[in-house]
Amino acid sequence: MSATTVRNATQPTLSPDRILQTGFGFWAAKALLSATELGVFSELAGGPLEGHVLASRLGVHRRSAHDFFDSLVALKFLLRDELGRYSNTPETSQFLDQGKPSYIGGILEMANVRLFEHWNGLTEALRTGRPQNETKGLEPTERDEHFKTIYGTPERLKCFLRAMTGISMGTGRVMAEKFAWPKHKTVLDVGTAEGGLPVQILLAHQHLRGVGFDLPEVKPVFDEYVSRMKLSDRLAFVGGDAFKDDLPEADVVVLGHMLHGWGAAGKRALLERAYRALPRGGACIVYDAMIDDDRRDNAFGLLMSLNMLIETEEGFDYTPAQCRQWLADAGFREVRTEHLAGPDTMCVGVKL
Ligand SMILES: C[S@@+](CC[C@H](N)C(=O)[O-])C[C@H]1O[C@@H](n2cnc3c(N)ncnc32)[C@H](O)[C@@H]1O
Repeated sequence: MSATTVRNATQPTLSPDRILQTGFGFWAAKALLSATELGVFSELAGGPLEGHVLASRLGVHRRSAHDFFDSLVALKFLLRDELGRYSNTPETSQFLDQGKPSYIGGILEMANVRLFEHWNGLTEALRTGRPQNETKGLEPTERDEHFKTIYGTPERLKCFLRAMTGISMGTGRVMAEKFAWPKHKTVLDVGTAEGGLPVQILLAHQHLRGVGFDLPEVKPVFDEYVSRMKLSDRLAFVGGDAFKDDLPEADVVVLGHMLHGWGAAGKRALLERAYRALPRGGACIVYDAMIDDDRRDNAFGLLMSLNMLIETEEGFDYTPAQCRQWLADAGFREVRTEHLAGPDTMCVGVKL
């Protein structure tokens, strides 16, 4: 029996391993975030490199290089061959090489420059119920300016919107397969960010046209991404406030990672507005990292809800059962739930 394993007559073998792994989980998280920030995986896109070459290209000090790169090997984000050269794993090559359109590192970049610091305020958020991000300390009259505050500089705006592409790209690919797109001609994505989700849908369905709707300041970042993905002729941007302005009409309205940003009244208001924008036969798709109905298994969904505590005034994540009820109350029928990718689940309702 190891020194850290305790057995007694009434209890099965107990180990503190999982407690310690989670308690020190920020070590592994920060190593990956710093690797992304430094561009480790993009630098290795050209092929394997010896440690001293990689370190000098990235500006990593010789004291730290060996331990840093070998930590990434142990964490299974890098490989090291018999000559001591480092290379990407299949996953880091596919998803963390900035040169590839499949790059999802934007979400890690945002975690690194924003969330890592904001989560240090979790205990205060738990005690006060107040956000801990850039909006911390805003007066009640200024709180409407929530996203404007987060989008304080062009760099921060771009960082947030790119992060959304990172977290929604895989979900978009699966949604392209799991929804009856051939039955519809147009899609409206409300709170589209860079348009990461509709880009994946339109790439898979050539007959579709789309509109990304978001706050007006998002337009240049959306336009640049959509043009890079060669979809400017089928995917347009409309700027506005989803709570105040009429939503453009479309056969399908998507609300992705949107409902969790508001309290129950905001969630219901968005669904009612989506209902009004749809024709009869149109569908509304809501997706989020929905919590399992029993609220015990989807730890990511539950932690995402705590992230909404840190990030927003009233936002929270929710279960599919709650979402189906809100959709039904807004008038939608034939409401169903389907898992998408990773922690994301969609609920779909039809306007009959
Ligand atoms: C959490 S992001 C979700 C992005 C994207 N739908 C996804 O799933 O990755 C929320 C988006 O809603 C946009 N947004 C916030 N308030 C809005 C409003 N009042 N009207 C329209 N869009 C808004 C933000 O600019 C941001 O792009």
